[in-house]
Amino acid sequence: MAVITWESPSNIALVKYWGKYGQQLPRNASISFTLSASHTITTIAYSPRTLSVTPSISFDFLFEHQPQPIFAEKVGIFLEALLPDFPFLAEYHLHIATNNSFPHSAGIASSAAGMSALVLCLCDMERQLHHYSGVEQASESEFWKRASYYSRLGSGSACRSVYPHAAVWGKHPAVPNSDDTYAVPFTSLHEVFAHYHDDILIVSKEEKKVSSRVGHSLMENNPYASARYIQANDHLSRLVDVLKCGDLDEFCRIVEQEALTLHALMMTSSPSFILMHPQTLAIIEKVREFRHDTQIPICFTLDAGPNLHLLYPDKYTDEVGYFIKAELEQLCQSRIADHLGEGPKCLSA
Ligand code: PMV
Repeated sequence: MAVITWESPSNIALVKYWGKYGQQLPRNASISFTLSASHTITTIAYSPRTLSVTPSISFDFLFEHQPQPIFAEKVGIFLEALLPDFPFLAEYHLHIATNNSFPHSAGIASSAAGMSALVLCLCDMERQLHHYSGVEQASESEFWKRASYYSRLGSGSACRSVYPHAAVWGKHPAVPNSDDTYAVPFTSLHEVFAHYHDDILIVSKEEKKVSSRVGHSLMENNPYASARYIQANDHLSRLVDVLKCGDLDEFCRIVEQEALTLHALMMTSSPSFILMHPQTLAIIEKVREFRHDTQIPICFTLDAGPNLHLLYPDKYTDEVGYFIKAELEQLCQSRIADHLGEGPKCLSA
């Protein structure tokens, strides 16, 4: 039996991907920061098995040391779909065990970390098997591209998790080699973004009211969809410059506009969804007031739920820490102190 373990982080989109078509292809390009503390660790132990007449997947699955039939079913469907491209999977029984660094039902979308960790294990398994059978190895950059490509098929945003610091997914003229089928690393970050903080404020641990799948599909009939895709691509052009030159005022403006646009799109879909809670709005007001009064360039962003991500430079850790303690802590259930990370790590020998 051989064992492979990967740790892969979650990511937070600055320009949001919302709206897709075909096989998980994005309607607009998106860019994200790769996180660190919020990650998934997945282990695959694989042992040879007798092939069945029709190639199929054989696996067992533990989530946080327990069987989890709903997740297991999703993983099974995903693995079956990958069989034509990863045919060796049919030759092994896979014991898959996966754990999140954050508590289950913390109100954090975990699919980006989970899907990328799983796919990295599969790509690494392929690499090991090729090594033993003498097949020529893919280059390092091909390995990451392939991991990003297949992570995307599991969950669109997962394709951005495989790179350190920041990644772009979706073809865009401002980003050379960008592509709709995989993400590329964004390597021109200004030094002000080194160890940039993302404090995740959990306002509610409830399950998402609307799944990503349904949310994306509602964009097909959203009356503002085409204007949104133009806006997103324009934001991405501007954000690329901002990330290179470190203009934090413009950074805060674009990032907050993106967050509120995502929620506006859900409010204007049919059926419509209001995903922010009263505490979400109260925190937004306080963050804006604090920024105005202190001139500290802190801003918020949101995922498809009520929880907030507070983004700010490392040098303001103390001031922001006091502010959160004094003014925001009573409005949320818990907080995860995260920051820009170095991307996935292989934890097996
Ligand atoms: O990757 P999905 O299909 O769960 O969609 C993610 C969508 C957002 O998180 C709301 C935005 C993004 O770009 O990550």
